[in-house]
Amino acid sequence: MNNNSISRYHPMLVVLHWLVAVVVILGLIVGPIMAAMPLEQKVLPLQGHMAANLAIGLLVLVRLVVRFTTRRPPPATTGNRWLDWLRKLTHVLLYVVVLCMVSTGLGMAFLGDLFEVVYRTGVFPEAFRFDSLPPNAGHRFFANVLIVLIALHVAGALYHQFVLKDRLLSRMWFGRRHPADKQRG
Ligand code: HEM
Repeated sequence: MNNNSISRYHPMLVVLHWLVAVVVILGLIVGPIMAAMPLEQKVLPLQGHMAANLAIGLLVLVRLVVRFTTRRPPPATTGNRWLDWLRKLTHVLLYVVVLCMVSTGLGMAFLGDLFEVVYRTGVFPEAFRFDSLPPNAGHRFFANVLIVLIALHVAGALYHQFVLKDRLLSRMWFGRRHPADKQRG
């Protein structure tokens, strides 16, 4: 629901946006470091990686529900319809690709019996290889796509904030809201 009298996103959406952003970016930084470790050292980082990013999958679904059930400010415009189209596409793809990361991660976890190995035995079967699990290639591919999408998203936000100077970032932060916002709850 877009509404011209709404000045900011719902606080719950703001919390979810920054929480998901921090955990996903950490996952993209820590993931390759973890992938380069010897097998016996991966158990602990994988415990964190799998739990944190499964939580992200759930939070993204919650975020989608909150997004479509609360009023939000009108779409920001750059005045250029191609850039506005790119913004829309990037936003949709960010949701889709994060969910692809979570499902390929889950795919690896099920095919490699990783919940048992990582959270119970702590020992990988002999000659276990992550790259022999088919979703592994997808997980790597989507990680690269996600990096490009995050770069586009950040560049767009900075363009609004510092070139167009429309204070776009304040919509995704806390603060006093327009009196009409309160009616939305
Ligand atoms: C948005 C969510 C996620 C992000 C951003 C993310 C990111 C990454 C990255 C960047 C890598 C390293 C890829 C490489 O260079 O080889 C990786 C590896 C991996 N991730 Fe994720 N991941 C996410 C979700 C998940 C989930 C939900 C699971 C499992 C439940 C999972 C399980 C794994 C596993 C098993 C590996 C392979 C580790 C290895 O090769 O040693 N990931 N992840």
